[in-house]
Amino acid sequence: MPEEASLPPAKRFRPGSCPPGRRVEMLLAAGGGGAGGGRRHTPPLAQPSASPYREALELQRRSLPIFRARGQLLAQLRNLDSAVLIGETGSGKTTQIPQYLYEGGISRQGVIAVTQPRRVAAISLATRVSDEKRTELGKLVGYTVRFEDVTSEDTRIKFLTDGMLLREAISDSLLRKYSCVILDEAHERTIHTDVLFGVVKAAQKRRKELGKLPLKPLFFPQVIVMSATMDVDLFSQYFDGAPVLYLEGRQHPIQTFYTKQPQQDYLHAALVSVFQIHQEAPPSQDILVFLTGQEEIEAMSKTCRDIAKRLPDGCPPMLVLPLYASLPYSQQLRVFQGAPKGYRKVIISTNIAETSITITGIKYVVDTGMVKAKKYNPDSGLEVLAVQRVSKTQAWQRTGRAGREGSGICYRLYTEDEFEKFEKMTVPEIQRCNLASVILQLLAMKVPNVLTFDFVSKPSPDHIQAAIAQLDLLGALEHKDDQLALTPIGRKMAAFPLEPKFAKTILLSSKFHCTEEILTIVSLLSVDSVLYNPPARREEVQSVRKKFISSEGDHVTLLNLYRTFKNTGGNKDWCKENFVNSKNMLLVAEVRAQLREICLKMSMPIMSSRGDMESVRRCLAHSLFMSTAELQPDGTYATTDTHQPVAIHPSSVLFHCKPACVVYTALLYTSKCYMRDLCVVDAEWLYEAAPDYFRRKLRTARN
Ligand code: CDP
Ligand code: MG
Repeated sequence: MPEEASLPPAKRFRPGSCPPGRRVEMLLAAGGGGAGGGRRHTPPLAQPSASPYREALELQRRSLPIFRARGQLLAQLRNLDSAVLIGETGSGKTTQIPQYLYEGGISRQGVIAVTQPRRVAAISLATRVSDEKRTELGKLVGYTVRFEDVTSEDTRIKFLTDGMLLREAISDSLLRKYSCVILDEAHERTIHTDVLFGVVKAAQKRRKELGKLPLKPLFFPQVIVMSATMDVDLFSQYFDGAPVLYLEGRQHPIQTFYTKQPQQDYLHAALVSVFQIHQEAPPSQDILVFLTGQEEIEAMSKTCRDIAKRLPDGCPPMLVLPLYASLPYSQQLRVFQGAPKGYRKVIISTNIAETSITITGIKYVVDTGMVKAKKYNPDSGLEVLAVQRVSKTQAWQRTGRAGREGSGICYRLYTEDEFEKFEKMTVPEIQRCNLASVILQLLAMKVPNVLTFDFVSKPSPDHIQAAIAQLDLLGALEHKDDQLALTPIGRKMAAFPLEPKFAKTILLSSKFHCTEEILTIVSLLSVDSVLYNPPARREEVQSVRKKFISSEGDHVTLLNLYRTFKNTGGNKDWCKENFVNSKNMLLVAEVRAQLREICLKMSMPIMSSRGDMESVRRCLAHSLFMSTAELQPDGTYATTDTHQPVAIHPSSVLFHCKPACVVYTALLYTSKCYMRDLCVVDAEWLYEAAPDYFRRKLRTARN
């Protein structure tokens, strides 16, 4: 066992304890209203039913920390327009508050919306709450995520991704359908939640002015911001000093350990820590490990399983479960189920387990201190996914996961000095990503001036200008008397639930007579990967994939794969043989149908290039000219516009080739800046697509 794995003890702490000096209402400390009728105005709860499963659910509901505060909470919320609610993860905010509001009658005036940053969370929470309410999913309780709407006229509690509510605001900026909007997981500060803050605030103000459409029904708040972390002053100030309600949760003491030395290889350090715990702790105590992404997690899961098989007698068997957003839902469910008796459960997860998903049984947390997140540089125009340090707030959230059911232990695979240098809080996504999509949506909502929009945290003017420039290049904007507006093309682009550049790709495809092909490609890029690559069977995978590979790049390869899938009638066995994720493939077909429907509504001619791949590649070159790279004399690649060094990702079919010029659809930063999903194009096509743009960039480069 290497030296660095023996970690020095650190102070005990209570990450959830309420900071002193804050003006908050303590909800549980005051006793609460109790169940079903201690207070006159507390609406009664449904009685437990006869079914054992339902009974267990009902008992679980009643044992949540929030339950004791139910009456008090309802009484408080009745008198507020807006409120900020903080409570530790797992205390019952997301599943219970919407039900309490429903039971309190708020949904008579309109639907209760609960936004989630993640698609998986919206689906799993809606499923859970509809179970608790003993109704079929999609009836009383439903969900809406991109390309999937499981709601009906009867839906009163609607879970939806923050991005979907933003889309709805394009057609109704007053959000008339809703009596209450709960902005959940606000601490995550996703770009969509941040924009929603402004949209919901404006809707609330306008509806108050109009008076005739009470977003606020008689007693209830219009907007509830929910957060798992304490730094909510900003939210409260933003909603004109909305009161902060603090829900005391379950939090047991946790011991944190730091490494003595900085770790060069966090994956190795995580592995060592897992097996050190595994050899020492009783098997009923589960381990949660935080890593950064799917590939890393799958590889680590395999290594853990391999090592666990070879451990000496007396070591308990290990159940290793990966967890990341693109994992099929049925496999995600396994992390919630208990391990077979005598087994230790080891969950290896992305930051999805930080707050949005609650897993029971965790006693140990192993935190690598790393996360994969977006970064954007407006000068170079590059938006990359990069593996980077977490913030202090994130580190405390991760640590907190060890103390939900009893005292716990957290191993931090970094030194205390390193921790002190972490950013205090996570920088909001809106300040570190490309804003083109947001600006397009705000303009589609007819926000009078995007430059002065009331953002909760303002993005830098450079960022906004870069987004405006990008939309200009895509032909989406017109400038009238210093005011920005959408061109007819811009309005069409906003109708697609896609990044502006992909919307433009679809619109351009009619000019190149290849809409059928482009619809397939864009749909394939809009869902999680359809390729299933088990590391243990790499050679087999490579050999079956050969027949689909095209020297024209990844997009054409994917297109070949999709075509064959379609020709086999969406056959499950075919998917298995070819290492294709059948569920994601079916989703591609659904997404494609929806995008095609939008095209038909716009009366776009839909044609197929009938095997002519050059027109498909030309179309990609004409719409994605801002994401291209060229081969340099020394054999490396640099982006065409700003000459940033980039490399072809090993997962690309072009990895061993040296095409002169490529279009890419994503950048990933690990040891270097990698381009993913590539298509071979002709440099001429790029200059043809945007002559002014390249002329300007060349001039800047020369100066
Ligand atoms: O929002 P918050 O983190 O406060 O908690 P929640 O999501 O409402 O979850 C409350 C409890 O419900 C969790 O601690 C889990 O025990 C349970 N739950 C579950 O078992 N399955 C789900 N899909 C969601 C919640
Ligand atoms: Mg929650």
